[in-house]
Amino acid sequence: MFDRTIKIAPSILSADFANFGAEIQAIEAMGADWVHVDVMDGHFVPNLTFGSTMCAAIRKHIKGVMDVHLMITPVDASIDAYADAGADIITVHLEAGPHIHRTLQAIRSAGSKAGLALNPGTGLEAMPYVLDLVDLVCVMTVNPGFGGQKFMHSQIDKVRALRAMIGDRPIHIEIDGGVTPQTAPLVAAAGADVLVAGSAIFSGGSVANPSVYGANIMQIRKSAEAARG
Ligand code: DX5
Ligand code: ZN
Repeated sequence: MFDRTIKIAPSILSADFANFGAEIQAIEAMGADWVHVDVMDGHFVPNLTFGSTMCAAIRKHIKGVMDVHLMITPVDASIDAYADAGADIITVHLEAGPHIHRTLQAIRSAGSKAGLALNPGTGLEAMPYVLDLVDLVCVMTVNPGFGGQKFMHSQIDKVRALRAMIGDRPIHIEIDGGVTPQTAPLVAAAGADVLVAGSAIFSGGSVANPSVYGANIMQIRKSAEAARG
């Protein structure tokens, strides 16, 4: 069921890479709505994480939505592998290849929901031509590649314009990068409903002390919901 309530999606990029299973169980127990999984190839972005085999392994630990953010190029040949790994949503970058229309179609054909991510330097010009092919648009509020970067306020107007374009279509607006209790209200007020956060959720906590994760999730959620009015 589609809804526009605020959803918090911790990015496991900031979790303990040697302990993903326990980290995922901890954030879900502490109130995470979705689990955001960052796949980086050291080519499209200057950082390398893991691939579809790891996604399949961590899928077993996720009770809710597995939100896979592919920062890889080329991407088309890998879509089926991530769908088979159990990704509920597969998000690809507009900048990652010449055939975004075909790529989005391929994601839905493979049985996942289709997300489209836009880098901070990318505009909304293509959106009218792909709106019917997407279930989610991810507005990057940092340049992709690393956690812990500073939120770009320049992206807030893009979120507002995107929200107007979407109208009553069942398309989520996700924000990725620099989300904190301070920045979450700005994008929630502009129309975002899915808030990815890595460092703001994982810093200070651990699987041994997961209540910190819970407090961080709660703070981001409350500040975003307050901005919605
Ligand atoms: C950045 C990733 C993000 C990252 C966000 O390329 O796509 O999901 O983990 O990290 P924070 O919340 O620390 O900016
Ligand atoms: Zn991400």
